[in-house]
Amino acid sequence: MTQLLANLHEAQGQLTTDIADEAWIARFDQLADRGYVIIRDFLPKAEVAALYRYTQALDDQDWSLAGIGREQQHTVNTRVRSDKIRWLRPEIAAEAVYLNTMDELRIRLNRRLFMGLFDYECHLARYQAGAFYKKHLDAFKGRSNRVLTTVFYLNPEWHVDDGGELVIYGDRGEVLETILPQQNTLVVFLSDVYVHEVKTAHRERFSITGWFRHNTSNAYRVDPPK
Ligand code: OGA
Ligand code: MN
Repeated sequence: MTQLLANLHEAQGQLTTDIADEAWIARFDQLADRGYVIIRDFLPKAEVAALYRYTQALDDQDWSLAGIGREQQHTVNTRVRSDKIRWLRPEIAAEAVYLNTMDELRIRLNRRLFMGLFDYECHLARYQAGAFYKKHLDAFKGRSNRVLTTVFYLNPEWHVDDGGELVIYGDRGEVLETILPQQNTLVVFLSDVYVHEVKTAHRERFSITGWFRHNTSNAYRVDPPK
């Protein structure tokens, strides 16, 4: 057996016995079957704690009022959403940690589900007490390059009384999931399939919303625009 084949066999052996990988395969299968998956304990504890501390240390001027739609369609409508956001940038070390993790996830998704995900963009979101985001879709079929939405929660000790649940609806308007925004939970769903909403938060709520995207560049237009 060549060294190459030996290495390959060893790698395959590790793949089937590695409990972490098995867990990932189960999650990806769930995503493929249902179109969404809820992942608890997504990051190492120290990493999510550091991210939470980082958001706490940001000043008011580090946040801006969230809009609806992209580019020309961008409008601020506080009747639909009243959160504040901050796009994450790789130049900032504390933000790069999360971006790198999501890029690893992107590669795993492509490998397992052949999704052809091209890139990832995300922003921190801060819902102050009283803030919400009414029912919406993150993407409209054929009109967006957003393929998968990810929402990651940062607040430790979030209780039922604190509100701010993410509700995911089925195609007949029925509630599929009501998710408390608990620290270290990641929700992933198909952006153009699931209508969802954020119920009014009764205390300050921190999350990171992001999108894995397809590349829709052509000869006339470079994609993705920011
Ligand atoms: C969004 C969104 C859900 C959440 O930002 O588009 O739907 O639970 N966020 O924060
Ligand atoms: Mn959304």
